[in-house]
This record gives sequence, structure tokens and C-alpha cells, in this order.
Amino acid sequence: MDGLVGFLGNAYPWVKAAHLTFVIFWMAGLFILPRFYVYHHETTPGSAEDRAWIEREERVRSIILGPAMGLVWILGLLLAANIGAWHQGWFVAKFLMVVALSGYQGWLAVYGKRLAQGKRPLENRTLRIMNEIPGIAAALIVVLVIVKPF
Ligand code: HEM
Repeated sequence: MDGLVGFLGNAYPWVKAAHLTFVIFWMAGLFILPRFYVYHHETTPGSAEDRAWIEREERVRSIILGPAMGLVWILGLLLAANIGAWHQGWFVAKFLMVVALSGYQGWLAVYGKRLAQGKRPLENRTLRIMNEIPGIAAALIVVLVIVKPF
């Protein structure tokens, strides 16, 4: 079975299962945080509601997003090393998408800081459009990994 070759041996499917579990946690965080920002946008800076959103957002970032992204990266790179994925087109494309998604998370962190300072840098509509990015990225990544079109 090709899933069992490489230095991970029989652990390969287990590492893949763990990879997918943390992908789910990561995506959950990436879906919920910008949604929180949309609600946060509607509050008055300095209000009790504003402070409650700041706290909720901070928790999603530190408890879900940070650890989940780290673990997805570690487990994903292990899988990649195990199967020599760097020579395969689908993987390189996936890798670039994941780098972009990690950059998106960085942008979310910066945007959260602005909100906490009482700023509302984007129009609501623009923020809602930005919210679609993780869903689109996840769909493309799944196609790359499962269909392996190139
Ligand atoms: C952080 C960087 C990531 C790296 C380095 C990475 C790498 C890998 C590798 C090498 C595999 C094994 C593929 C195979 O056995 O054919 C894999 C499996 C998978 N990855 Fe990732 N991945 C990363 C992030 C993600 C993300 C963000 C998603 C989804 C949004 C994702 C979704 C999947 C899926 C669905 C599989 C299972 C494919 C199968 O059953 O063969 N990965 N990943």
C-alpha cells in the first residue's frame, strides 16, 4: 500500500488523520473569527459589547487559530517529507495556497488589533467579502489534494 511507505511507516495514516482533525479545527477558527469581526463592527468603541467581542476574538486566536495552524503545518510537513511531495505539482500549488491562508490569518490578527483600538478600517461589505476567502481556499486545497489535477 503506497500509504505505508516512507519513514513514517504504519504511522502515516495516523499522522494524516491528525492532520485532517487539526485542519477542521483551523478552518472552524478561520470561519468564525471574521464573522465575529462583522458583529464587532456594529458595536460602539469602548462599550461593554465592544469589550466582550475583543475578548472573544482574542480567545479564538490564542486557543483555536494559533495552535491549530501550528499543528496543521507540523503534521502537513511530516506528510510531505514522507511522500516526497515537493516534486509533485498539486503539492506545490497546495503549499502556496496554505501559505496564503496563513498570511490571511496574519491579516486577521492585525485587523483584530485595529478593532480593539476602536478603529473600523473596512466597509462592512468589504469585510463580508473577505470572509469568503477561507471557504474558497479550503475548497481549492481539497481539490488539489484529492483530485491531484497536476
Ligand atoms: C500547512 C501546510 C500543509 C501541508 C504541508 C500539507 C501537506 C499534506 C500532505 C503531504 C498530505 C498527504 C497527501 C497524500 O497522502 O496524498 C496531506 C493530506 C491532506 N491535506 Fe494537507 N497540508 C497542509 C495543510 C492543509 C490544509 C490547510 C488543508 C485543507 C484546508 C489540507 C487538506 C488535506 C486533505 C483533505 C488531505 C487528505 C488527502 C488524502 O486523503 O490523501 N491540508 N496534506
